Amino acid sequence: MSSPLLQIENLSLGFQTEGGLLRAVEGLSLSVEEGQIVSLVGESGCGKSITALSIARLIPSVQYLGGRILLAGRDTLTLSRRELRQIRGKVVSYIFQDPALALNPTLTIGAQILEVLLLHQPKAATRESCITALEQVGIPSPELRIDEYPHQLSGGMKQRALIAMALASRPRLLVADEPTTALDVTIQAQILQLLASLRSSHQMSILLITHNLGIVSQFADHVAVMYAGQLVESGPVRQVLQTPAHPYTRALLASVPQLGGRRRLSSIQGQVPPLHAMPAGCRFGPRCTERHGGCKELTPDLRAHPTLAGHYTRCLPPRP
Ligand SMILES: Nc1ncnc2c1ncn2[C@@H]1O[C@H](COP(=O)(O)OP(=O)(O)OP(=O)(O)O)[C@@H](O)[C@H]1O
Ligand SMILES: [Mg+2]
Repeated sequence: MSSPLLQIENLSLGFQTEGGLLRAVEGLSLSVEEGQIVSLVGESGCGKSITALSIARLIPSVQYLGGRILLAGRDTLTLSRRELRQIRGKVVSYIFQDPALALNPTLTIGAQILEVLLLHQPKAATRESCITALEQVGIPSPELRIDEYPHQLSGGMKQRALIAMALASRPRLLVADEPTTALDVTIQAQILQLLASLRSSHQMSILLITHNLGIVSQFADHVAVMYAGQLVESGPVRQVLQTPAHPYTRALLASVPQLGGRRRLSSIQGQVPPLHAMPAGCRFGPRCTERHGGCKELTPDLRAHPTLAGHYTRCLPPRP
């Protein structure tokens, strides 16, 4: 088998603060195969965005404490600034939660796409190509929209324009960090359908960060669940959602709002621990309804599921 497009191995990240080093991501491993949609889930503050941004080294203040990030066979943690600039866009592109913040309000949509094309595919940097780029992401009347400014577009259309920009560089990996959280539910579905179809038409891989397990089950092939800076479970989507092996995954699933009027079934008691006060032993222990004596004493490793292939979990079985 060929090696994955993205392979994060044992990555640890931290931030230097006045109070000392805060460890924000601990020993995280994750891979994304060519053409695969991998979803990264977990509550707010678990480390999803900093992990994703680290792939192209987009956070200046982060400290890389260990591990490797192999993207298309190259370790991005060892690349020079120049090499990184080449990788950003050509190999990996990003779209974020709030499209309004990511677009330049003073330039037309067309001018912004043209900029990306000039950088990555100068021969294609024409008005025609920009119109095609907008057409591909389902923007109606692209020949008119191209001359509009971001404020003239709705939220959904802005996100489409950003996707068009991200794709204009023909990335092999698209990192989508909560790409639809700021949008209406119906628009959310359209944008996700669009990403799923672009994955096929452009043979692109997608790292999709979301809080929404419904989105995971519908769009992702593989899911990685993060809790307090660590991976607690990962595996094929159907398997993880149908037979979750970690109590945190089970708790997340139990808090998914149900269709048909039933409100939240239960929300997870307590909070994600702050970086400066990680509990000893299992980090989820203090909130876990299934905890036992060993959880406080031993730090669980991520281990292969005893029977399910490709499925990993970080949970200590109770002592007999
Ligand atoms: N520049 C920074 N300096 C110090 N700590 C930071 C910095 N950026 C992020 N953190 C901390 O790192 C942790 C992980 O943050 P991150 O943004 O990756 O969370 P997240 O899982 O993406 O959450 P959300 O779902 O809210 O987007 C948090 O505790 C956050 O406070
Ligand atoms: Mg985030």
